[in-house]
Amino acid sequence: MKNLDMMNTLQTEIIHTDNISVELNKLIDQLDHLAFAHHPSAPVDPEFDSIDWSSPIEYMALGYIDGELVTLLGFLRREILVGGKPVWVVGVGGVATHPNWQKHGLSSTLLKAAEKFMREKMNSSFGLLVCADERRTFYGRVGWEHLADEIFFTQTSQRRSLKTSVMILPLADQIWLSGEIDLCGLPW
Ligand SMILES: CC(C)(COP(=O)(O)OP(=O)(O)OC[C@H]1O[C@@H](n2cnc3c(N)ncnc32)[C@H](O)[C@@H]1OP(=O)(O)O)[C@@H](O)C(=O)NCCC(=O)NCCS
Repeated sequence: MKNLDMMNTLQTEIIHTDNISVELNKLIDQLDHLAFAHHPSAPVDPEFDSIDWSSPIEYMALGYIDGELVTLLGFLRREILVGGKPVWVVGVGGVATHPNWQKHGLSSTLLKAAEKFMREKMNSSFGLLVCADERRTFYGRVGWEHLADEIFFTQTSQRRSLKTSVMILPLADQIWLSGEIDLCGLPW
C-alpha cells in the first residue's frame, strides 16, 4: 500500500477510446487485470462467468499519480428500455484502482471527474452501473443510488437476465421510470 502525500495529487483525463494508443491500451489492460485479479468478484448470479461485456467502451476516465496510471473506469452512452420506455443512460464499468493505491479516495475522485464530464457532454438522463452488493456503499458515497437487483440484456440474440445490484446516478432533472431494465445489448 502506497502513502499519499501532498505532492501526490491525482491527475485525471477523459479520453475517447479512438484516441488511446497501443501503449496506453496495454497499461489499461494491465491495471484492469491486476485490480480484478486481486479482488476476484464473487458473483451472485451463476450465469456471470458466461457473460460477454460490451466492448469497446466509448470513453475511459484515467487517473495518474506522478505519471503512473493508478485508477480508471470506462463509460458509454446507450439508449436502454426501462419499463418498455426508451431512456438515455451513461453506462459505467471497469472501475478499478491499482491494488497498491486503493483506499486513498482515488476511484471516488475519478468517479466525480467522470460525472462532471457526463453532465456536461453526454446528454443523458442517468448514469447506470452494476456492481456486487458489497460495493453499494462505496458508490453511494459518491452519489449513486441503488435501484434494482436485476437487469436484462441481449447476448448473441438471446435475451438474458443478471441478478446484480443496479445503481443509478441522476444526471438531469428526470424521474426514473419503474419497470424492468433492459440494456438493449451487452452489459458493461
Ligand atoms: C472498488 C475500487 C475501484 C475502489 O478503488 P479505490 O481507489 O480504493 O476507492 P476509494 O479509495 O475512493 O474508496 C474505497 C474505500 O476506501 C475508503 N477511503 C477513501 N479514502 C480513504 C483514506 N484516505 N483512508 C482510508 N480509507 C479511505 C472509502 O471510503 C472506501 O470505503 P468502502 O470500500 O468501505 O466504501 C478498488 O477497490 C478496486 O479496484 N477493486 C477491484 C475491482 C472492482 O471490484 N471494481 C468494482 C467493480 S463494480
